[in-house]
Amino acid sequence: MCGIVGCVSKENCYEKILSALSGLEYRGYDSAGIAMVSPSKTLNVRKKKGYVSNLKGKPLAGDTGIGHTRWATHGKPSDANAHPHVSGKFALVHNGIVENFRTLKDELLRQGEVFLSETDSEVIVKLIARAYDGDFFGAVAKACERLKGSYALAVLCADFPGEIVGVRQGSPLVAGAAADALYLCSDVPALCGAAEFICPASDGEFIRIGGGKICFCDGQGREICKQFTRVPPESRLTSAASGTFMEKEISEIPRALSDTLAGLTETDFAPCARILRGAKQVYAAACGTALHAAEMFADVAESEVRCPVFCFAASEFRYRDPLIGKDDLFVAVSQSGETADTLQAARLAKERGAYVLAVTNIAQSSLASLAHFTIVMRAGPEIAVAATKSYNCQLLCLYYLAAQMKFYRTQEFPDWFASLPSLSSAAEETFGCFLQMSALAAKLKDARGMFCLGRGLDVRTAEEGALKVKEIAYVFAEGYAAGELKHGTLALIEEGFPVFTISTSPALASKTDNALAEAKARGAFTVLLSQDTAALSESCADCKCALPALHEKLMPVLAVIPLQYFACRMCLLRGYDPDKPRNLAKSVTVE
Ligand code: M6R
Repeated sequence: MCGIVGCVSKENCYEKILSALSGLEYRGYDSAGIAMVSPSKTLNVRKKKGYVSNLKGKPLAGDTGIGHTRWATHGKPSDANAHPHVSGKFALVHNGIVENFRTLKDELLRQGEVFLSETDSEVIVKLIARAYDGDFFGAVAKACERLKGSYALAVLCADFPGEIVGVRQGSPLVAGAAADALYLCSDVPALCGAAEFICPASDGEFIRIGGGKICFCDGQGREICKQFTRVPPESRLTSAASGTFMEKEISEIPRALSDTLAGLTETDFAPCARILRGAKQVYAAACGTALHAAEMFADVAESEVRCPVFCFAASEFRYRDPLIGKDDLFVAVSQSGETADTLQAARLAKERGAYVLAVTNIAQSSLASLAHFTIVMRAGPEIAVAATKSYNCQLLCLYYLAAQMKFYRTQEFPDWFASLPSLSSAAEETFGCFLQMSALAAKLKDARGMFCLGRGLDVRTAEEGALKVKEIAYVFAEGYAAGELKHGTLALIEEGFPVFTISTSPALASKTDNALAEAKARGAFTVLLSQDTAALSESCADCKCALPALHEKLMPVLAVIPLQYFACRMCLLRGYDPDKPRNLAKSVTVE
């Protein structure tokens, strides 16, 4: 997704902006650009389709600049559509979507404006330039009054070297301070390498950098008192050293699980005791991988807590006019805490009176600031677009939450609760399956498609494994309930078609194996993943992968790891970059 950076420094800041843009690359983008204003009040812009590295070269002059990585929404990836956009004395970078841009553009065209790009963003800079009467901040604030939709902006004015105006409305923006420079950025982890202190803006807040200080204010220029916090060392981006970020992040799962569990035991759930004890119904919503974690939570919590738990794709939640209200708990799950659909769903739940509990990896995220209570997982920065360690940690947090709910209602913890501390070492044991997974990836790398099957909690693991294969190896993969195979999809099985089956519940093992046998009888190449020795020995699978044994209810945290690794190997063997899959972004900040 798009990324914004702004910098005012004591010296030329072109390299600082380039470096911050490199920190934003992991989010996914298709073009990049920088604008600088020089002390002699000239505005210079360099922008290009493709990588941030295309902007390298003789630094543009100036100690004040803005930069952008663009993920195309309005208009194809091109030099012209790349940000910054310029009008008169102004340059602007924009994240988000201006929903009324067609109306505004028509109006501006009638007034004689000429557009150089197909973007919605260019209308904003034109509105600012037209509103300008010598008051930089006033022009930005006035233009913002016309905008509908979500945006984060950083704006330069040639008349004001040393100043940047930023604003946040529905799209993240953070201010950062270091000894030698002041920053704006759309992404906390990307800023962490540069700034020592950070402070996120809330919706409707402006950030003004100028005169060597940062000031937050409202649209009328009234100052807002904010608190900067020191950047936590664990949120700094680290390099993958060797290999890819995805491989590095899979290898970090054991550490991420033990850190997350330590954080959970330190978390004081007392502030949400009333709702954990008394919620009449529970809703959970999320997107993509986080949705699979939320679905798992719904299955586990409903069975432990004995109250209805409904799970929805956050992108759909609003459109069904849900029956959520006071005395209901809404659980929003998001690694980034910035996913637009998840935020919108959480806002709706809050508006209707529900108690919003967030599970996120980023304590300073928009979701955390919106929620009544936040569980922060300690996965550490996740750079690869494909979520891995964050999924395992989301599951852990959600198991923990289900256990707390049960405890607040019955004074008893689920029987699997005592096994949570063993997850980290068991996760490490799953690495023993990686050789087998590498061999399978080599064998199946040219497959045209594959199925992942499971029953009970294993359906979620099957769905998550299939999502990984789709998004990075670009092989069509479908994950679903094993029992559904014979209701249609069995028709697709042909000689050699890969069918992975996850079977971690001994009570369901023989039924799951029936589905595997049905696929094998029609020529499928079958793989079974299980910790259950009886299931493994009785199965007719072509390839059997033995998972470490832990309480069966917790197996989803472990069973997904070999599938994550398999997808990564398949992607690499097919010649793709697992960290930056095509068309995808790390944090999806548009609806
Ligand atoms: O940051 P979030 O957890 O809210 O992101 C949600 C999804 O966009 C994300 O999980 C996505 O599905 C992953 N790229 C999948 O690997």
